[in-house]
Amino acid sequence: MARNTKNGFPPGPPNIGDGAIEQYLNYRSFLDDPLTRVSNWVAEYGDIMHYTVGGRHQYFIANPEMIREILVRQADIFIKGPEYTSAKAGLARFMGRGLVTSNGAFWKRQRRLVQPAFHTGRISAYADTMVAYTLQRLAQWRSGAQIDVDKEMMELTLMIVGRTLFDADASTTANQVKKAVDVVQKASNTATLLPHWLPTPLRIRSRRANAALDKIVYGFINERRASGEDRGDLLSMLLLSRDEDGARMSDLEVRDEAVTLFLAGHETTANALNWTFWLLAQNTEAEARLYAELDAVLAGAAPTFADIRRLPYTEMVIKEAMRLMPPVWSISRSPREDTVALGYPIPARSSVQICIYCVHRHPEIWQEPDAFLPERWQAERASAIPRYAYIPFGAGPRVCIGNSFAMMEATLLLATIAQHFQLRLIPGAQIVPQPYITMFPRDGLPMRARRRVPAPLAAAG
Ligand code: HEM
Repeated sequence: MARNTKNGFPPGPPNIGDGAIEQYLNYRSFLDDPLTRVSNWVAEYGDIMHYTVGGRHQYFIANPEMIREILVRQADIFIKGPEYTSAKAGLARFMGRGLVTSNGAFWKRQRRLVQPAFHTGRISAYADTMVAYTLQRLAQWRSGAQIDVDKEMMELTLMIVGRTLFDADASTTANQVKKAVDVVQKASNTATLLPHWLPTPLRIRSRRANAALDKIVYGFINERRASGEDRGDLLSMLLLSRDEDGARMSDLEVRDEAVTLFLAGHETTANALNWTFWLLAQNTEAEARLYAELDAVLAGAAPTFADIRRLPYTEMVIKEAMRLMPPVWSISRSPREDTVALGYPIPARSSVQICIYCVHRHPEIWQEPDAFLPERWQAERASAIPRYAYIPFGAGPRVCIGNSFAMMEATLLLATIAQHFQLRLIPGAQIVPQPYITMFPRDGLPMRARRRVPAPLAAAG
């Protein structure tokens, strides 16, 4: 590890001064091409990097030991900062006070409350819904047709999260949710010098996005309250839960948690699948191995929960796609008090960015870091990968609550789709990764579908 020059702080680029314009220009240039910028930084300064902007300490981390320190060992100190929690400028503008955007005792209580919806026993029951929705969707695909894969994956995962967690039909909401997600992404990655109260076009769109999300989620809540039914799903859990004093969650609290899970629970998995199809189309040997496994194990039948453990290569493909193109490419923390990690001082309220994309391609950790090689996930090889070098779902107490749900969903959807269709890039189409909160194909992912099996698809239930 390169020791440094800057008063005990890690090495890094020059500090940025107090001037608002200077800070704005720095932020703008960072947003222009963050993936290249951070990759170059790691190459130049090492995997623990520091500089200041207007006096605030900024750290960029792509070092597994430091990741353990921040997300696991000192998880109580490194909490979510204003990028998440601020109701004016953070993700809380949209998600309110839910699992992603809260800290401390409130977060702990919510986590305990929501966790049972994600226990293995419960999520295994979601498998059939996932496959049935996928088959329904595939029944609309025609061999030789161009498919907007990004749109298809987004709608499919949205319908799945709607049905499994809220027992609701989200198909009619897809357009509004898509627009809201676009605004959330944009608003979280836009540099501006304008004061918060000024109604810029983006802020007006943010307000509309929130109103649309409210309408959808309060629709779920009101319908459930009116029926008075306990359907045993996440929504019933939220509505019926009581805290130690016997108090129920307010409608606003239920709204915030529901919006959080609705948003966090679909776009991430959709992007995991987008990048998987994009990578498979460029790596036809891996694609052929995938087809061989699917054809041998499933023999034309729809995959079930029990099949997942018989589809190890399918899962390896997903894992490798999430290594190269992690849907959540970077996460951040801010220490609530001065601390020291691996010998480096980290003052209170610093911004600590953990670059998942960078550690997943770290040249000292991965052989052929930029190559798509699902075989590296074979048990005997995977055991040599350092802990915390692969963290698509984060780590420590705040690890993704939907981790197993998402792995199961991505594996079943890939198995179902690849069983029936091969997807190819449209010649000349530029696919550009846009790393906002999630990393998504900026201009969409148009692909050509070719049917692999001649038989018509079974009607989906
Ligand atoms: C491939 C799909 C997914 C990826 C890559 C992903 C990634 C992540 C990551 C990296 C975090 C940690 C954030 C941090 O520490 O700052 C996280 C947290 C979270 N994820 Fe996921 N996620 C996925 C799917 C899902 C699904 C399906 C759900 C719910 C249905 C979900 C709900 C959440 C929630 C609620 C949190 C916050 C947990 C907490 O702080 O207690 N995610 N996710």
